[in-house]
Amino acid sequence: MRFEPARGLSGKLRAPADKSISHRAALLGAMASEPVRIERYLHAADTTSTLRAVEALGALVEVRGEDVVLRGTGLREAREPEGPIDVGNAGTLMRLLPGWLAAQEGRSFTLDGDASIRRRPVDRIAEPLRRMGAELQASEGRFPPLRVRGARLRGIDYEMKVASAQVKSCVLLAALLAEGETTVIEPVRSRDHTERMLLRAGVVISRAAGRVTVVNADELLLDGVRVPGDPSSAAFMIAAGVLVPGSRMLIGDVGVNWTRTGFLRILRRMQGIVLGDLEEEGEELSPDEPVSDLDVAHGALEGTVVEPEEVPLAIDELPLVGLLGCFAEGQTLVRGAQELRVKESDRIAGVVEGLRGLGADIEATDDGFAVEGSDGLRGGTIDARGDHRMAMMGAVAGLASREGVEVVGLDAAAVSYPGFVKDLAALCS
Ligand code: S3P
Repeated sequence: MRFEPARGLSGKLRAPADKSISHRAALLGAMASEPVRIERYLHAADTTSTLRAVEALGALVEVRGEDVVLRGTGLREAREPEGPIDVGNAGTLMRLLPGWLAAQEGRSFTLDGDASIRRRPVDRIAEPLRRMGAELQASEGRFPPLRVRGARLRGIDYEMKVASAQVKSCVLLAALLAEGETTVIEPVRSRDHTERMLLRAGVVISRAAGRVTVVNADELLLDGVRVPGDPSSAAFMIAAGVLVPGSRMLIGDVGVNWTRTGFLRILRRMQGIVLGDLEEEGEELSPDEPVSDLDVAHGALEGTVVEPEEVPLAIDELPLVGLLGCFAEGQTLVRGAQELRVKESDRIAGVVEGLRGLGADIEATDDGFAVEGSDGLRGGTIDARGDHRMAMMGAVAGLASREGVEVVGLDAAAVSYPGFVKDLAALCS
């Protein structure tokens, strides 16, 4: 698809439903004892894979317009499916689901996915699960397909090596069925949707000084979940509004959970204009997922340094920080972001080679990238490498460029949310 230079984005848009929270709502809904209504589920390729997966495990799934009603199997009764569970392209499903399945005693499961999933490591979840007593086998010890044989688990203290919400969530789900208590120690805070939803579901869970502790549970009681708008999807619209001269727009219903708004804090440091009622950092665990409208306007940007402890809080938006850096005065440096190499594609290589092809002065480093800001981007062609977020970054680059950008290398069905191009077009008209 081609994205031509825009003359200014304006109007109001509702942010698409949150992907991370949709995945978790479907999984916890499947584990719950009573039916759960999920309001505003994200109907996109990855989150549909999660609905198909929980169906294969015995949950009943009914789609009612934007909503989903789930009748789960209960915590201990996941059914052994006839064949492998296909996670498609969904890394979150591949990493979270084994936490639940590892405790389904006497049953076996295989999780597999597309070519990109088969290149993404699962040893990071296999290691703590094995310590809890799980039986798992991965291809070459590291990659999907992943075979899980349910076993009796015991609680552990687990000090995570990588700051990953997916790994943390996997261990917390396994902890629900493990003997005793489980504590996960995070090197840096990452998104905490799983913790908040478990608290809402009546689980005994607490957080203090970087340690999250879960006590095993008899059942999950989750009456309903309302999925807020996705700050990571909204970030693409926000970046377009900040970069294209003449823009002024409102994005409604954006989730502003503190652990997801790292990009907005980075953007504000770059002097980007984005107003909203963001949640403050808090140590105590909250059951809520706060939302806010965000008011965005074009303005000049300054370069910044993104430090390692900010990375998990803006992980999916870091390609956009690279794009913003092309338009900012001075240097923009992202440090401590080596995790970008194991996303849907190698996002360090993709950002550096992709933006350079559009005229950027950008270099890769071992753990991130450095951009020298100039007068924006010429334009050209960018290869999304099959990665939805790289394609969306290319689209925004096109609107902000001088000559337009052609995005190649992505199957249109794989975008993170299906209305993206339509929403961008509506803001541009
Ligand atoms: C996610 C966590 C992040 C993020 C991914 C969604 C989640 O991955 O990149 O898109 O829903 O927990 P990591 O936890 O592996 O960094």
